[in-house]
Amino acid sequence: MSEQSTQPETFKPPVTVALTGASGAQYGLRLIEVLVAAKHEVWVMISKAAHMVIATETDVNLPAQPARLAEALGALCRAQPGQIRCFGREEWMAPVASGSGAPSAMVICPCSTGTLSAVATGASNNLIERAADVALKERRTLVMVPREAPLSAIHLEHMLSLTRLGAVMLPAAPGFYHRPERIDDLIDFIVARILNQLNIEHSLMPRWGE
Ligand SMILES: Cc1cc2nc3c(=O)[nH]c(=O)nc-3n(C[C@H](O)[C@H](O)[C@H](O)COP(=O)(O)O)c2cc1C
Repeated sequence: MSEQSTQPETFKPPVTVALTGASGAQYGLRLIEVLVAAKHEVWVMISKAAHMVIATETDVNLPAQPARLAEALGALCRAQPGQIRCFGREEWMAPVASGSGAPSAMVICPCSTGTLSAVATGASNNLIERAADVALKERRTLVMVPREAPLSAIHLEHMLSLTRLGAVMLPAAPGFYHRPERIDDLIDFIVARILNQLNIEHSLMPRWGE
C-alpha cells in the first residue's frame, strides 16, 4: 500500500498574470485556470477596473482583498492550496515589484489601453505597471493582450515602442479558421497563443500544420 505524501505540493515556476480593465476578462480567467491545470504557480493581480469588467462580463464574483481573492480564484480554478498568490494594487513589497523576485514571465490579459500606455511610458503607478516595468528592464517575457477597437495612433505608437522593447503584442483577436462553435473555442484560441509564447505545452488546439 502506498503511503500518502505529507510533503507540500511543489509547482512549476510561477507565471505572473495581470487582468486589467479591457473587455475580455474571460481570457485572463481561463489563462489562470489552464496554468493551474499545467501545475504552474500563478501570481495574480487584478486592477480595480478589471473587477468591474469581470462583474459585467461574467457570473464570477471575486473579492478585492488579495488573500480572499486567492481563495476565490483557487476554488474557481481548482487550484492546490498555495498555487495561486494574489497581490494588491500598492503592495510594493511583493516579489513581482523587483527584478530579484519576479517570475521569468508575465502576461497582462486582457490589457487595457490605459495600462498599455502606462507600461509604454514606465509610469509604474500601481503594482501591475511596476511588474511590467520590471519584466521589461530585466528583459523577461512580457506578453500583453490588448483589446480596443478601433485603435488610435496613441495605442499603435505604444504597441510599437513596447514591441521594440521586447514585449509581445498578442491582441485579443481570435481567428476563425478552426471553425469555432462556442465562445470557449474563441477564448482558447487566444489562451493557446499565450501558452505558445510561454513555451508551455497544451492541447487547447493544434498548432498550424499539426
Ligand atoms: C465594462 C467595461 C469595458 C471596458 N472595455 C475596455 C476595452 O475593451 N479596452 C480598454 O482599453 N478599456 C476598456 N474599458 C476602460 C478601462 O477599464 C479604463 O480605461 C480603466 O481606467 C483601465 O484601468 P486599468 O488599466 O488600471 O485596468 C472598459 C471599462 C469597462 C467598465
